[in-house]
Amino acid sequence: MAVLDLRDLPDFTVNPYPYYAKLRAEGPVHIVRTDEMERIWLVVGYEEARAALADQRLGKDWRTTGRWEASEAVLSANMLELDAPHHTRLRRLVVREFTPRRIEALRPRVTGITGRLLDAMVPRGSADLVDALAFPLPMTVICELLGVPDIDRDAFRALSNGIVSPTPEQREGDPAGAMSDYLVDLIADKRRSPGDDLLSALIRTRDEGGDSLSSAELVGMAFLLLVAGHETTVNLIANGVRALLDHPDQLALLRADPGLIDNAVEEMLRYDGPVETATFRFAREPVKIGDTEIARDEAVLVALASADRDSGRFPEPAAFDIRREPQGHLGFGHGAHYCLGAPLARMEARIAIGALLERCPDLARDPSGGELDWLPGLLMRGVRGLPVRW
Ligand code: HEM
Repeated sequence: MAVLDLRDLPDFTVNPYPYYAKLRAEGPVHIVRTDEMERIWLVVGYEEARAALADQRLGKDWRTTGRWEASEAVLSANMLELDAPHHTRLRRLVVREFTPRRIEALRPRVTGITGRLLDAMVPRGSADLVDALAFPLPMTVICELLGVPDIDRDAFRALSNGIVSPTPEQREGDPAGAMSDYLVDLIADKRRSPGDDLLSALIRTRDEGGDSLSSAELVGMAFLLLVAGHETTVNLIANGVRALLDHPDQLALLRADPGLIDNAVEEMLRYDGPVETATFRFAREPVKIGDTEIARDEAVLVALASADRDSGRFPEPAAFDIRREPQGHLGFGHGAHYCLGAPLARMEARIAIGALLERCPDLARDPSGGELDWLPGLLMRGVRGLPVRW
């Protein structure tokens, strides 16, 4: 099979969907090259993607493949880079504390923070929606949840962006090292003066067998929750609002019936979700995807964004339709690594977008804000800023 260099495809970052459609028409899995790796199997069909996400033979722990030297070691002690039984153990420990009750208890705070951000934004008449709402809301919520009081939010945003969607210059620096140092200090502080926050709970937590999280595991967990907890939700809110503003008929439907918001957010996740591809998986033994045999140690990327536009699963997949049945979308992944934060992300997006539409009845894109600046890389789909006016 020929290797397709994604860097040769013009505007792939701006709009990858026509390319994914073409790839799906040719077959469910392809070999691609990216900035990150010379050779990756990209899974683009829905059924194959769903099966791959749940396939235990496709591992997440790259240390077991013998292909890479260990680096960023502390941050990699996190669930997304581990397989059973280590993954199962960490997930069990965090699930004890990251409970539906703890998340539900955040609802008034999410509403309050949203209100405060909109109070500051609305009188201005125009704004960058990412700066004004989509970024500060999830960032504040995840910091409060974890118990990070006075974090330097801009510095943290730069570090986090540098890890998740690095520009070439950021790749040269060491954002992961800086983040790790920051978290080691934070956890030491929490050990000295615990609160009723999630991080203190994770430090304290013991399962029935007395098992608990080591210091390195706590750093990895805090890292994963902080980064996964805001990078993604920022882009769900911004991509979702962008989809509404680009489809005035759907925006009008939602304004006419705000009760559609829950379904609309699911459709936003399906139509243009924030996570374009899941994180890397590696074949721990030869695995057949479709008719293609993937050899041991080969890297596999599941293109969630492509799977969710597969016409075999979703009729007229390129249509943004907030009344369709988008259930079964892969926007939060699937299988053992299914997003832990899905209930929190849904709550934030529903509250934020609902309140935004209520407070800004004539919200529109602001053409004077210039071209959209798209996040580089395959992991995240989104824009750095979204100029709007009302
Ligand atoms: C719209 C927002 C979000 C989206 C689209 C999203 C998407 C995803 C996806 C696709 C995965 C699986 C990746 C894979 O299998 O390679 C995942 C895993 C995860 N997400 Fe989210 N996420 C979101 C928000 C959040 C939030 C708010 C949190 C935490 C507060 C969070 C925490 C996690 C964690 C801890 C995992 C790893 C679970 C594991 O390995 O067992 N996510 N997320």
